[in-house]
Amino acid sequence: MRTIDEVIEAVRGRVVPRANEKVEMREAANRAKADIEKQFKGSKYPVDVLIEGSIAKDTWIKGETDVDIFVRFPPDYVKEEIAGVTISAAKTVFGEDKCFERYAEHPFVTVHLRGLMLDIVPCYRSEPGAWMSATDRTPYHTEFVQSHLSQDEKDEARLLKRFAKGIGAYGAEIKVGGFSGLLCELLAHHYGSFRRTIEAMASLKLPLLIDPINHYGGRDAEALGVFGSEFTVVDPVDERRNVAAAVTRTKLSEMMAAAVAFINRPSSAFFFPTRRALGPRQLKAIIRNERRQLLAIELGAMNVPPDIFWGQLYSARDKIANILRSGEFKVVRIMGWSDERACSFVIAELESRTLSPSRERAGPPVNSPHTRRYMEIYGSGDGVVGPWIRDERFFITTRRRHTDAATYLRGAVRECARTGGMPTLIAQHLARGVRVLVDGQIPILAKSREAAIFITEFIDGRPIWMKGAYGRAMN
Ligand code: CTP
Ligand code: MG
Repeated sequence: MRTIDEVIEAVRGRVVPRANEKVEMREAANRAKADIEKQFKGSKYPVDVLIEGSIAKDTWIKGETDVDIFVRFPPDYVKEEIAGVTISAAKTVFGEDKCFERYAEHPFVTVHLRGLMLDIVPCYRSEPGAWMSATDRTPYHTEFVQSHLSQDEKDEARLLKRFAKGIGAYGAEIKVGGFSGLLCELLAHHYGSFRRTIEAMASLKLPLLIDPINHYGGRDAEALGVFGSEFTVVDPVDERRNVAAAVTRTKLSEMMAAAVAFINRPSSAFFFPTRRALGPRQLKAIIRNERRQLLAIELGAMNVPPDIFWGQLYSARDKIANILRSGEFKVVRIMGWSDERACSFVIAELESRTLSPSRERAGPPVNSPHTRRYMEIYGSGDGVVGPWIRDERFFITTRRRHTDAATYLRGAVRECARTGGMPTLIAQHLARGVRVLVDGQIPILAKSREAAIFITEFIDGRPIWMKGAYGRAMN
């Protein structure tokens, strides 16, 4: 087994770009920036074109090709205008066929350019505290990281970002609910190194408050009260924002457990996992041999911004879980997945997909004030077996209306969608028909390699890093 430091040094070579790669990347970003600047020269918009994000902060991971370019407008224009102007400038400069309009809090455009992916994002030149759009903080974040992190800390942030990616906890988007680039940078800065951050995560006691520029002057309780979150990293450019707000409790716990596993058995597989997809036959065999109790419901296509879609998908997942529970089915695990294009579904594992047709129900003690009423209701024996008396109480068995989870779910979900209980996009899809798959049919959902990986990992049941770290490979 290699030591932690040996593993870290080996991974460092894979995440820190070489000097010449950095030069090339910066030159490419600068060329794009200059092209956009030229486009705005002489226009009525006095904009700054800025290279932002991890390229500007020197925290991008070797080989990654995302470049964030911000077009910063004076506060005199409405959002629609700065978005429209930015998008049409990008189309003129790079050609319409290379531009893909996207939506975050406001529209932006992604340009595929000679192997790079440029995100061109409009924002406002607003003063700290008087933010006009969510993207206005970014130039200040960039400036903070540039001026407060040492070169070493930037490379340590790269290691942490790659670790978070490897364990599936990177990204603040709703889909992931994990650690953003900025959060990784602030953690690496606070703890001083990747290794110390991981050690801190491995023995983390909540609540945790990190306040990089001491906005709250050590008044931790006050700060934690303001944010109401057990895991708070105060934004250095906005004392009212928690940079860790997007991190779900589950992702934080996964990070903590992965940190323990990494310290216990250091391996580059945490950073660069090999993800396997079993074929439909193998999946079916596992499901059959282990008598797994699986159920999935197809939710179809999406053509809305990812955060909106994932928000709806996850809320549908929670609705489906509640529906199953109120039908007395015990939901062991339930997850939503989407390729963000044509295919999405919710998949659940139950303790049992079928329930017995009857269940025992305890009644009141025979000496209770309810005894007369109880016998009036059930004494006829209609629709129940009993009541009989055992020890001090009455008992009956009643019949369940639903014994098969799939049949029950199909009906209950249709009804829920019809009566407005499902998020709108999902309800629209369900109005065209509800398709529920069980057990051996589940592998039908593995239409792409990504879907097959997801289903394989769902059926395995462990986070990917745990498989590598603790033996027993699947199959
Ligand atoms: N950002 C944004 N809208 C986008 C793209 C980026 O508001 N469409 C902002 C983010 O909120 C963040 C910054 O731009 O403040 C950089 O975002 P991102 O690329 O996600 O993070 P990086 O730090 O660049 O990390 P990575 O290496 O993963 O690109
Ligand atoms: Mg970026």
